[in-house]
Amino acid sequence: MQTTQTAPLTLSTAGVIWIKLAVLYLVIGIALGIAMGASQNFTLRPVHAHINLIGWTTFGLAGLIYSLFPKAGESLLAKAHFWLLNLAMPVMMVALSLLLLGRPQVEPILAASQIVIALGVLAFAVNLFVNIKR
Ligand code: HEM
Repeated sequence: MQTTQTAPLTLSTAGVIWIKLAVLYLVIGIALGIAMGASQNFTLRPVHAHINLIGWTTFGLAGLIYSLFPKAGESLLAKAHFWLLNLAMPVMMVALSLLLLGRPQVEPILAASQIVIALGVLAFAVNLFVNIKR
């Protein structure tokens, strides 16, 4: 019987950075989940969900995609994607936490950070359309 062999995935520099950041967010997200469960205080549930889903899942997928397509990981759009997301993500998580803890005055900061994250995602999307080729 004939078997086909595929080369193992080699992580690119961009891939390694994104994946290491992703696993840091996973540790923080899970720690918050455990703290919520232990205290039975679920006020920060949306923060937990976004740390895990943007930080772990979305960052981790970016790392894998940039390793599969290293050219896309080295582009200017990839740099814009990286800095927009990484600067805005901590601001959004802190602002969202403060809002949920009863500080409505942080809303403009929260909105601004979310717009920056959306712009980062847009840079990612354009990057993949422009720089991913078979
Ligand atoms: C050991 C790991 C984890 C623990 C202890 C944990 C804990 C929790 C707790 C206590 C809640 C609130 C449940 C409730 O309100 O009844 C929750 C909700 C949630 N978690 Fe986790 N979680 C973990 C991992 C994850 C991961 C890895 C993800 C995503 C990749 C995730 C995504 C979510 C989402 C989407 C919600 C619902 C948020 C909402 O309804 O607003 N969690 N988790």
